[in-house]
Amino acid sequence: MGIEPKKREGFSSGLAVFFATLGSAVGLGNIWKFPYLTGEYGGGAFLLVYLVCILFVGLPIMFGEFYIGRKTRKNAIGALSQLKPGSAWKYIGTMGVAASYLIMFFYSCVAGWVYFYLFKALLGDFAGITMETAKSQFGDAIIGPLSPILWQVIVMTVVAVVLAAGVKHGIEKMTKTLMPLLFVLIIICDIRALTLPGAGEGLNFLFQVDFSKLSAAAILTALGLAFFKLSLGVGTMMTYSSYFTEDNNLFATGAKVALSDTVVSLLAGIAIFPTVFSFGMEPGAGPGLLFMTIPLVFSQMPLGNILLVAFFFLTSIAATTAMLSLVEVPVAYFSEEWGMSRKKAAIGSAVGIAMIGILATLSVDKNSILGGYTFFGRGFFDWFDYISSNILLPINGLLTSLLIGYCIKRKDLELEFSNHGALNIKVIMPLFYFIIRYVSPFLLIVVFLNAIGVFKF
Ligand code: PFF
Repeated sequence: MGIEPKKREGFSSGLAVFFATLGSAVGLGNIWKFPYLTGEYGGGAFLLVYLVCILFVGLPIMFGEFYIGRKTRKNAIGALSQLKPGSAWKYIGTMGVAASYLIMFFYSCVAGWVYFYLFKALLGDFAGITMETAKSQFGDAIIGPLSPILWQVIVMTVVAVVLAAGVKHGIEKMTKTLMPLLFVLIIICDIRALTLPGAGEGLNFLFQVDFSKLSAAAILTALGLAFFKLSLGVGTMMTYSSYFTEDNNLFATGAKVALSDTVVSLLAGIAIFPTVFSFGMEPGAGPGLLFMTIPLVFSQMPLGNILLVAFFFLTSIAATTAMLSLVEVPVAYFSEEWGMSRKKAAIGSAVGIAMIGILATLSVDKNSILGGYTFFGRGFFDWFDYISSNILLPINGLLTSLLIGYCIKRKDLELEFSNHGALNIKVIMPLFYFIIRYVSPFLLIVVFLNAIGVFKF
């Protein structure tokens, strides 16, 4: 069995809990994935399906993970072993840790590009760029090979240093300072975007619902995005909630985090799409949307370079605070179950991630060094993303909903969610229990069966 830690750290207040958890949810998902997927899958209709996934699948599973973490006060694998000793449920934790690694391999790569773009914006490198130079700058940035590896290593170093400082002095301090700043910066970018001529067209694109554009692939993608966005199925929310205060209202925290996270995604969409339309660009530009379109259009506006610095700074904040929560999963596991010091666990995890993450970095583009190595049409980078977001996270979510809905006594759930009777959960509890037992698993199974071709809708 695991080795007991001397004294377990935790967050110091409700506000710290909120900002740390939001710091995990808000990340490249909001600013990079959400806009480009919404662009690719046709705007408003995709957004609507995504919101349904958040409400009926993501949020209830987040509550479930909160229950497991705070009840056991352990890392993801230790928590499940304690909750259901000797059972196979612990593999939810193991699968979560595996998924967290897959995500980190490609996430650290994209975070490296963001740091690099912030650096370039600070140097004023984007002045006077054209479509061609934006494309070639992005190509150079991602193909490298030295520069993207270097920036990936810088990202992992920052993350390791913060995590080694601990839960309170590292994660809590960082997220409490940076998350409010992120909000301010994104609102500045929004004000600029909304005052551009033709901004309405971009808003239309984001909010107009046209169901004819919805495909089965879009629905699976929206579901995967909901998991990725709320950091679910990875053990992250279990690990973070193991640091929550005793008196934290789990339902309220989950709802506030999911709502704020969705607001940040929308604010990012509002900063990006009006700008894209105003300059006559293509909204479905794929993963490059953030890195080609944004520098191109921002650099053509008054005060553009300052806005670019603000934009890439806020994106670096988002990427870093999300990485902290991802890497905390193995750090908590190794320090609690293997008796390693936090410092060693943080450095070891960061080195391991950087080493394998380089595979993703070197396979991003067909012109990358490993670009020629594809399996069934995907390179390492795309496989890491696809397997984690579209397969492991939803499977883990399904298992979590079954565990909470069918294998934990309702009384135990009520005790934990009501903080042993201190909170009134008379209305929310039955609703939550119904959704996690019937609605979430049903939706997950339908989307899966459809994705693997058992039936088509
Ligand atoms: N929620 C993060 C984002 O949207 O960028 C990504 C993420 C962080 C996924 C932590 C999973 C995780 F455990």
